[in-house]
Amino acid sequence: MKPIILITGGSGYIGSHTAIELINEGRYEVVSLDSHVNSSNRTLDRIEEITGTRIRAYDVDLCDLAATRQVFADNQGIAGVVHFAALKSVGDSVENPLGYYENNLLSLINILKLCEEFAVPNFIFSSSCSIYGNISSLPVTEETLVSEPESPYAYTKLVGERIIRDFCQISQHVRGISLRYFNPVGSHASGLNGEAPIGRPNNLVPVITQTAAGLIPQMTVFGGDYPTRDGSCVRDYIHVTDIAIAHLKALDHLVKHPDGKAYDAFNLGSGQGVSVLEAIEAFERITGQQLNYVVGPRRPGDVVAIYSDCSKARDVLGWTPQYGIDEMIASAWKWQLRLNAERVNA
Ligand code: NAD
Ligand code: WQD
Repeated sequence: MKPIILITGGSGYIGSHTAIELINEGRYEVVSLDSHVNSSNRTLDRIEEITGTRIRAYDVDLCDLAATRQVFADNQGIAGVVHFAALKSVGDSVENPLGYYENNLLSLINILKLCEEFAVPNFIFSSSCSIYGNISSLPVTEETLVSEPESPYAYTKLVGERIIRDFCQISQHVRGISLRYFNPVGSHASGLNGEAPIGRPNNLVPVITQTAAGLIPQMTVFGGDYPTRDGSCVRDYIHVTDIAIAHLKALDHLVKHPDGKAYDAFNLGSGQGVSVLEAIEAFERITGQQLNYVVGPRRPGDVVAIYSDCSKARDVLGWTPQYGIDEMIASAWKWQLRLNAERVNA
């Protein structure tokens, strides 16, 4: 029997891509736990279509400690937990701070308690570049002085990291790694799995693909007067499959270094800054489509530019991203075409 990796949020965007890479890699059995507050069971079909494996999946809310304990009891000997489950909308978190603190922190505390109770040795946490707040020095390293996070969502990630660090220092069993994602985009190369945002998306790449698909009549570039090379904001986009693979590397690192650090944190980005207009230009070049966009006012809360220094993940985890912006955009478009076809056939 293969060791089990429990993925929380396995029906979500990044969790499902990580499940696919873990299954295809072949060493682990993957089990998912998800409340489906921001995803649907259809993702399990997509994982099966790509990998040929139907994973065991539990429709459970991590805030329900008893129900979550039952999942651990049913799956004795879990070798690792990869904890993706969280609410992730910056804007919603400003509207509903208590809901975000409750969901993201209670779920984390519950799963850590159960990792201790069931002696789970390895824990990986989805953190975010949003913990860095408004940074003044680029690129961002893990040591970059953390200023105030800008939203309740970002605070849940910063506090989440602190909870894991403090807990792992005293835990008898658990060691942890936080992975700080920059801007994950793109889809599985097959075009059979990708981000399926519920409602109108806020993130750039789904907005681009939905605009091209005619679901959004016209998109707005938020700000054309920033002090950047073309006036639009700069971000560090990273392919979701590269993010997924980093979780395998992080698990391997913990397994191979049983006497290593109790807790560590790593940036995951491409290290390349790409502007909004450059992303649009890449989309138009790759797909041959003209995108209907206007350059409009700045979006409140946006930072001008942020991109990562990922040398720590490269040196310690042996992780280097494989995909560039063209593959990110091309795969996102392939997925959008698939979603369009599903809609037509529904
Ligand atoms: P997602 O919403 O697609 O996936 C999260 C999943 O967690 C969803 O399926 C949701 O139903 C589930 N979930 C939420 N609360 C739960 C609970 N209490 N119990 C059980 N399941 C619950 O989001 P994603 O983009 O895949 O993000 C995964 C993780 O990565 C999140 O923690 C997010 O904060 C973090 N992250 C995402 C990004 C990004 O841009 N996508 C960037 C940085 C960090
Ligand atoms: C990217 C750029 C927009 C939409 C967010 C979270 C962060 C992390 C990653 C979770 C910005 C511009 C966007 C549009 C536009 N998530 N844009 N028109 O804001 O960098 O980061 O996702 O942890 O915490 O804050 O990502 O995709 O929303 O925006 O011009 O219609 O695209 O202004 O410059 P962001 P994004």
